Amino acid sequence: MTKSPSSSWTVSDSAELYGLPRWGAPYYRVADAGEVEVNLGDEENESWHSMAAMIGELEERGIEAPVMLRFGNILEHRLRLLNESFRKVMKAAGYQAPFKGVFPIKVNQQHQVIDQICEFGKQFHHGLEAGSKPELIAALSYMHDPEALIICNGYKDKEFIDLALYAVQMGLQVMLVVETVGEVPLILERSAALGVTPRLGVRMKLSTPGSGKWVESGGDASVFGLNAEQVIQVVDLLKEQEKLDCLELLHYHLGSQIPNIRTIRTGVSEACRVYVNLVREGAKMGFLDMGGGLAVDYDGSQSNTTSSRNYAVEEYCADVVESVMEICDKSDVAHPTLVTESGRATVAHYGVLVFNILDVSGAPTKLEVPELPENAPNELKYLVEIPHQIKANNLQECLNDAVYYRDEIRNRFALGLVTLRERALAERCFAVIVKKIEKATQDMERVPDSLEELSAARPDIYYGNFSLFQSLPDNWAIDQLFPIMPIHRLSEEPLQDGIFADITCDCDGKIDHFIDDSGSKNSLPLHDLKDEESYHIGVFLVGAYQETLGDLHNLFGDTNVVSVEVDEEGQRVYGHEVQGDTVADVLSYVEYDIKEMTGNFRKLAERAVRQSRITAPQRKIIMSAFTEGMQGYTYFENQ
Ligand SMILES: Cc1ncc(COP(=O)(O)O)c(C=O)c1O
Repeated sequence: MTKSPSSSWTVSDSAELYGLPRWGAPYYRVADAGEVEVNLGDEENESWHSMAAMIGELEERGIEAPVMLRFGNILEHRLRLLNESFRKVMKAAGYQAPFKGVFPIKVNQQHQVIDQICEFGKQFHHGLEAGSKPELIAALSYMHDPEALIICNGYKDKEFIDLALYAVQMGLQVMLVVETVGEVPLILERSAALGVTPRLGVRMKLSTPGSGKWVESGGDASVFGLNAEQVIQVVDLLKEQEKLDCLELLHYHLGSQIPNIRTIRTGVSEACRVYVNLVREGAKMGFLDMGGGLAVDYDGSQSNTTSSRNYAVEEYCADVVESVMEICDKSDVAHPTLVTESGRATVAHYGVLVFNILDVSGAPTKLEVPELPENAPNELKYLVEIPHQIKANNLQECLNDAVYYRDEIRNRFALGLVTLRERALAERCFAVIVKKIEKATQDMERVPDSLEELSAARPDIYYGNFSLFQSLPDNWAIDQLFPIMPIHRLSEEPLQDGIFADITCDCDGKIDHFIDDSGSKNSLPLHDLKDEESYHIGVFLVGAYQETLGDLHNLFGDTNVVSVEVDEEGQRVYGHEVQGDTVADVLSYVEYDIKEMTGNFRKLAERAVRQSRITAPQRKIIMSAFTEGMQGYTYFENQ
């Protein structure tokens, strides 16, 4: 649907329209030139850079969209924000133990992410959480800080336990968190066999229910963690073996993206009561691990809705510290080291997916009524008359007539009484009528509900060069909303209402829900396409969970990934560059043998030569098209 332009559109109107200051500050902004900029410096030394310029420079280097841009300085800032907020609040409150954060590897397992967490986190002794054997192996390969924690969650076999114990022996702070009572005997047996005292935690299933989308990750419905009875069983088992002094940590996880601070407070208070009781049971303790849950304000509404949160990071820290202090002080128990496994809030902001629009299909831009052949069916003749009759006072009537005659044509087509060409003319004419009615409603003070619904139901379809399943799996699987907006042309008013379709040719491969002040909306204001000019869209805050949850639907592989930073002179540096999957890569992931495929295709080409369908030189050209296709990007390539 196309709207009429307002006379005084500015870049601030664009920023407001897409809500950027609310979800993007202090990292992203709209510049006067009408482009989204990212701050590649820090709060004191800001260094703003146009994302559209980056895409242009990458294209010159042969790195095409879709591309995932990673901004390491934002990751560093997020780590600092969490650590310094806790330190500040603890100091002000007189808290007697430190904060030790860990990053859960599952939230973004990419090597570069783990590398940067280890590098930037060093100053805060920020550690890692591993939920599986491969994640533990990744952690042990990169996290060598003897003051940082490595928390092992998840089910553990002998190999997993042995690795953790060897790491303890080598001086790392590795905690094995007991997830089931049955794990305890194996851990004790392996620690006796290796002669290493284990450092143990226990994961408790709190009765406090979570809130938001992941409500069932916490509370009685949770499938993870031990209930009160099982925690006591673990305590008794350890007591029997005189190993209760190995139990140092209580862990719980109420679920990801908890929007309501009250849930966080209630959860930590319940956990703290458990902690105090474990101390009284004689366990060594010392660490309270609150898991993840610190939420990201995806829609910028600062509210208690699933895409947002009604608290800031510092408020989260203050509430946690205050709740723990209150209970520990009253119970005369020493303050525990506070641990969080914050994933989403650490990495979401630093990743942006940029894709280009390949085409738009929507309402006709010209309002001409098609000419009819003389023998056109009567319904079609009536339909072409309607656009000439449209007036402000008969819009509803014209729409009703148009729907009636269009449907009559469709019915007669089904009976074989109307040709495909005649049906096409009817559809075209109907679209012109709708467009004319929409135009007429723009000058009305009050648009009748039925007409408003009509235009809302007809957004244009913007075909984007990306795969929803590969790059934004949470949007597909759990309707997670991400902020989405054009990264340029923001001094122009966007007059179309659009949705995005990806290139997987799957009817689920679309984005048709967008963040909005009042929850969500079904279309996004977008610009029309200009000849010879790319139109680039950014999907923001996608650094958490999306990269490895993505799948190979329709065999679209990983996108190109580039990390961008600035050197001392403020020049952009394209640091870590990972070429997206080639066609050959994705085929081999699903067990095709590339040599065999090439051989088979060669046989087909040779047979065609023998049958004189193609010449030998043509065979050469066709074979190189095949092998080049194998080495190409899985996404739409411009050349
Ligand atoms: C045990 C555990 N810790 C931490 C996290 C990370 O949570 P978030 O990304 O909300 O910080 C998760 C994710 O669900 C989890 O299962």
